Order: sequence, then structure tokens, then C-alpha cells
Amino acid sequence: MAGVKWLLVGTGEIANNRIAPALAEAANSKIVAVCDVRLEPARALAKKFGVNQIYGDFEQALAKSGADAVYLATPVALHVPHSLRVLESGKHMLVEKPLGLNATECHRLARAAQGSNKLAGCAYYRRHSGYYKFAKAMVENGEFGQIVGGYLNYFVYHKPDKSALNYWTVVREKAGGGLLCHLGSHIFDILIGLFDLPLSVCAQCATLTNDWNVEDCAAIIIKLRNGALLTANFNWNSMTPVRHELEILGARAKVSWCWPHGSGPLLKTIGHEVQEIEIPKVNNIHLPLVQDFVDAVLNNRQPLCTVAEAFKTSVLTDAIYRSAAEGREVKVIE
Ligand SMILES: NC(=O)c1ccc[n+]([C@@H]2O[C@H](COP(=O)([O-])OP(=O)(O)OC[C@H]3O[C@@H](n4cnc5c(N)ncnc54)[C@H](O)[C@@H]3O)[C@@H](O)[C@H]2O)c1
Repeated sequence: MAGVKWLLVGTGEIANNRIAPALAEAANSKIVAVCDVRLEPARALAKKFGVNQIYGDFEQALAKSGADAVYLATPVALHVPHSLRVLESGKHMLVEKPLGLNATECHRLARAAQGSNKLAGCAYYRRHSGYYKFAKAMVENGEFGQIVGGYLNYFVYHKPDKSALNYWTVVREKAGGGLLCHLGSHIFDILIGLFDLPLSVCAQCATLTNDWNVEDCAAIIIKLRNGALLTANFNWNSMTPVRHELEILGARAKVSWCWPHGSGPLLKTIGHEVQEIEIPKVNNIHLPLVQDFVDAVLNNRQPLCTVAEAFKTSVLTDAIYRSAAEGREVKVIE
């Protein structure tokens, strides 16, 4: 295989802004077909990226495109059913996050991926970020000492109009949940990458300024495997400036960073000494994810962001929702 030929399914916002540019820019990667139930945006994206094949039907696209790999950028309720069909059809698959609506259906996909000889990835691209890699290296080389705490604060205003294309993001049946699925899942994936699944969670979710059937804010206490307690706050309901910040606190050192909005340096503190570490800026955060997946296909190895790992995030998210619904601490069991 000279390079990886992609079928891109879903030509909405993220596909236009980041996925198609990444599929086109990555080395040894080419978009050969696009598919969307809305043909107009599919045609527009195809024209922009010089793609000849345009489909309005997923099964037809799968059968006829001649692609080696499929990128799924559709609403979450379609992720698992379409991912299963891609693997059944003998193609590699990379699906947007979150992996699926809940851990039960994600488990079906994780099992199918395990039994397939094709690669199965999920777009938790923050595992490729320089910030994450720096913190991961500190965990691995023991620089933190014992991990004793940390916090995660994520605010971004989200209030799609009822007629907007992305209104599905605030409908439980289509998205699995609210901001814990849409935004939280990225952060839970990072935590799992650093510390594996937590022991337990204690959460409250609320819908304060909207009439949705999903949460617009949440507060969580996360107990790591070593007993350390992290706190997390998520809000979709404040018009104040976007805030994405994370701090990991060890007995000897801490790191914090704000990412991806505003970027800035990573702060590494040892005792009282603070170092500002510049992390190279990445213009398209989907590009390292796509490049790694293409290289994995061509070199017959696993990608960094696998479906197996993404499944853990669905387990943690389910535990958080259960804790909020039952008003108690819930153990996180894979
Ligand atoms: N990685 C990230 O940071 C990030 C950011 C935003 C969204 N996302 C994820 O990307 C995915 C798409 O989000 P979006 O914001 O682009 O949504 P969107 O609503 O803008 O686009 C979704 C597209 O899928 C199409 N579609 C719907 N049903 C289809 C079907 N059966 N077959 C083919 N196409 C179909 C729609 O017509 C639409 O064009 C979601 O999974 C979302 O969670 C990821």
C-alpha cells in the first residue's frame, strides 16, 4: 500500500475545520471519498480538498469508495454502529470522541476491535500534546513523588440554537450526555493516560440555565488508585472567557497548563522553584493524531489512541453519571 486512502464520513464543523485538513496534510494520506446525508456540505468539502467521490449513503460509501480507512465524524449515536460496520467491511477505522453513547455499547466495539486485524482508533488527540507528554514523562520518572491531588477546570460557553446543526450535542439520545461527554471525555482520557482508571468518583451534575435533558455543569471528586483526590469542575453555562486548566500535584512537584485555548507555557514547580516550559504550538491538533494513525497502518503497529483505551473513558463517564444519579460515591470498574 503506497499510502492510506480515506473515506471521511460526516462533513460538519470539525471535519471542515480540522479533520479534512489533517487527512490532506498528513504524509502518505489522501482523502478519496466523502459521505454525508447532507450532500451540499459534502460537495463543498470535496471540492475544497480535490475529492472525486461523494456519497449520501454510508453503506454505499463503504462498499464502493475503495478506501483503506474510514474517519467517522458524525454525531455520537452513530459512532458505535458505524465503527462496527467499518471493521466488518475489512477497513481500518478512526472515530471521533467520545467513543459511543455509553460503556455498554463501547464494550461491544472494543471487543470487535480486539478480534479484528484492522486498526481501530478514537480521536483523543490530547495524548499527542506536548503538555500531556511532559506530564506523562514526569509521572514515569517519579519526579512528582507521590501524587497527592490536582484540579481540572473547564469552562466554555455552549448554547446551540434549537435549529442549529449541532443541537444534537445537548440531546442525550444523540450525544450520550452533555458536556461531560463532549468536553469532559477529553480530560478523562488524559487522566486515564496518566494514572489509569480512578478507583472511584463522587459527582453532582446539574442543568441550570437550559431546558436540555443533559447536564450543563458538573462537579466531581475523583479518587485515584493511590487514594489521591482530584477535583473537577465543568461548565457550559457561563459566558465568561473560556478556561481550560489542569494541575497535577505531587508531594515533591506539580505541573499545570492551560490548553488548548490560550496555550501558554507549562508550569513546572519543584518545591518553591517555578519553571516555565515552552511547548511547541501545534496549528491543527488533529494532525499528529492522523499522522500517527497513518504511520500505524503503514508500519503494522497500534496507534497511540486506541479504541481499547477510549473504552476506559466511557467506563469512567458512566460511573460519574451513576454517582450523580444515585447521590453516592461509585467505584469505577472496567
Ligand atoms: N475532537 C474534538 O475536539 C471535537 C470537537 C467537536 C466535535 N467533535 C466530534 O466530532 C463529531 C462531529 O461533530 P461536529 O461538531 O462536526 O458535528 P456536526 O453536527 O457539525 O457534523 C456532523 C455531520 O455528520 C453528518 N451526518 C449525520 N448523520 C449522518 C449519516 N448517517 N451519514 C453520514 N453523515 C451524517 C451531518 O449531516 C453533519 O454534517 C462528533 O462525534 C463530535 O463529538 C470532536
